Amino acid sequence: MSVMLNEIYEQPQRIAGVLDNEGSNVAALAAELKRRDIQYVVLAARGTSDHAAVYAKYLLEIMVGVPVALAAPSVFTLYDATLKLNNCLVVGISQSGQATDVVQTLSAARASGALTACITNIAASPITQVSDYTFLCNAGEEKAVAATKTYTTSLAIVALLGAHWSGRPGMLESLNRVPELIQSTLLLDQRIGSACERYRYIQECAVLARGINQCTALEAALKMTETSYLVAKPFSGADFLHGPIAIVSEGFPCFLFAPDGRAYPSMVELALKLRSRNAEMVVIARNSEILDLGARSIEVPVDVEEWLSPLVYIVPGQLWAYHLSSSRGCDPDNPRGLSKVTLTR
Ligand code: AGP
Repeated sequence: MSVMLNEIYEQPQRIAGVLDNEGSNVAALAAELKRRDIQYVVLAARGTSDHAAVYAKYLLEIMVGVPVALAAPSVFTLYDATLKLNNCLVVGISQSGQATDVVQTLSAARASGALTACITNIAASPITQVSDYTFLCNAGEEKAVAATKTYTTSLAIVALLGAHWSGRPGMLESLNRVPELIQSTLLLDQRIGSACERYRYIQECAVLARGINQCTALEAALKMTETSYLVAKPFSGADFLHGPIAIVSEGFPCFLFAPDGRAYPSMVELALKLRSRNAEMVVIARNSEILDLGARSIEVPVDVEEWLSPLVYIVPGQLWAYHLSSSRGCDPDNPRGLSKVTLTR
């Protein structure tokens, strides 16, 4: 079995492990955040980890009400800037824990008085040395270059933080159901394998989502790009209307991630506009109203609360990337010219 596919399938078990192992650590951080009345969060990450940071931005802003900014690591690494980050939580996300620029961002933040934390899959990695709190993905070794289980376990840690910091009732119970929801969603494997055949030769596409699933559009597009060597461009469904939709003419492939929730009605509106331009739409959703608008529809077989939907909806995105890559004769486990750890400054 492909390493990437195997790792996609490991996700329910790995997420269950993270929820078991990291809950009390995350609760300890949440208690300190409340005690110190931390009012601002900065996140630093690259690649797939940056998409986990985008999820964190939406979730913490929606559930906790604190402003969350995504750091530009080059501000520290190229421009030697010093930011006033006292009374701020700065979180670095790096699966390998080696991301030089993320480590430097945390180090600079700590020097200016910030509380620091990291999410990583490697316990003894450099990022842990500059973090007051370390949260481990517990994902086991990830061999495929395309990150899958380290992404969803990072999201699970972010979701734990949202639940503990906000203290809203019922969130932890809902989060604990995610492994079984993903297990059921994995049943889409065959359906996606046959649906993607039609798209074997595409060279470009748009990948669209809205609101808290912005991370899903970003991550699904990255997975397709790196494993199939096509130009998969992610957009917010709102931003797409501000100009990029002009690229859509008859047959232009558009992937729409449209789970139920606050963002859903705007995705329906977008789908109708795309249909009027005769776009070739692949719709990943639960609701038949929008599924019926697609040339291909991938019906997600579970109900999931919107705040948790990024953990579930990326799974069809990962499976799509895997099957598309295989059907194009690429090697999804070893994309050309990439290595597992990329160091940038
Ligand atoms: C994932 O599919 C990509 N190959 C890439 O984004 C990767 O996740 C990233 O380079 C990992 O960096 P990190 O170890 O700092 O998280």
